[in-house]
Amino acid sequence: MTEDKSKSIDLPALDWIDGTIPFSPRFADTYYSKAGGLAEAEYVFIAGNGLPARWPAVPECTIAELGFGTGLNFLATMRHWRDLAPPGATLRYVSFEHLPLSPADMAKALSRWPELADVANRLASLWRPEFEILQVAFADKVELIVFMGDANIRLPQLELKADAWYLDGFAPSRNPELWSATLMAEVFAHTGPGGTFATYTAAGQVRRDLRAAGFVVERRPGFAGKREMLAGKRPA
Ligand SMILES: C[S@@+](CC[C@H](N)C(=O)[O-])C[C@H]1O[C@@H](n2cnc3c(N)ncnc32)[C@H](O)[C@@H]1O
Repeated sequence: MTEDKSKSIDLPALDWIDGTIPFSPRFADTYYSKAGGLAEAEYVFIAGNGLPARWPAVPECTIAELGFGTGLNFLATMRHWRDLAPPGATLRYVSFEHLPLSPADMAKALSRWPELADVANRLASLWRPEFEILQVAFADKVELIVFMGDANIRLPQLELKADAWYLDGFAPSRNPELWSATLMAEVFAHTGPGGTFATYTAAGQVRRDLRAAGFVVERRPGFAGKREMLAGKRPA
């Protein structure tokens, strides 16, 4: 686990729905779907990027995410990657988070899923909101790097070329800075040829901005009765 330098931070205040679903009063939104956060991660982000079909054939995969939040998407991804990737393959998961949760809130938010308990406890025990960069190696060649800061500032500074993007800010109407046209263009610029994105939202402005950035964008049926979500590809 490494850091470049520590900073002083204000941890985000949370409310809890049904005792375990984290809700941000600041953004007036939940961190994941009330209909099931793990199932949403699997449907929207993992399947939405076509990863189960891609993984068995790749020696390495880089996934990038806007909004690390509770780490649920990461843990769900690591779980399926371990089942599907060839032996010895490497997963690099790069995420951005400007309001990191406390380790205790993270552990509480992940406690709904006993099947993730081992990795969730390890993540929460290593989680350091005060770091500028958190880099953790998990078993089976899984590497997590979280940039603790505004993605609008951190992403343009990186060399990254992701194979798949998870666009997971709070609702675009409440968290517009994580969905701006400029940031969507940065996402495109940091996607390798043939790389993909997926997101739970189907907001028209986000769709137009991703298309204008260069992605081929599709509308698909959304998770748990939501009419639509978006997925797309950078042409090879
Ligand atoms: C819907 S939650 C993400 C849920 C997360 N993917 C998970 O698996 O739990 C959105 C996250 O985006 C973060 N966020 C919002 N604006 C941001 C920004 N400008 N830069 C980085 N992170 C941001 C929020 O603090 C929040 O943690």
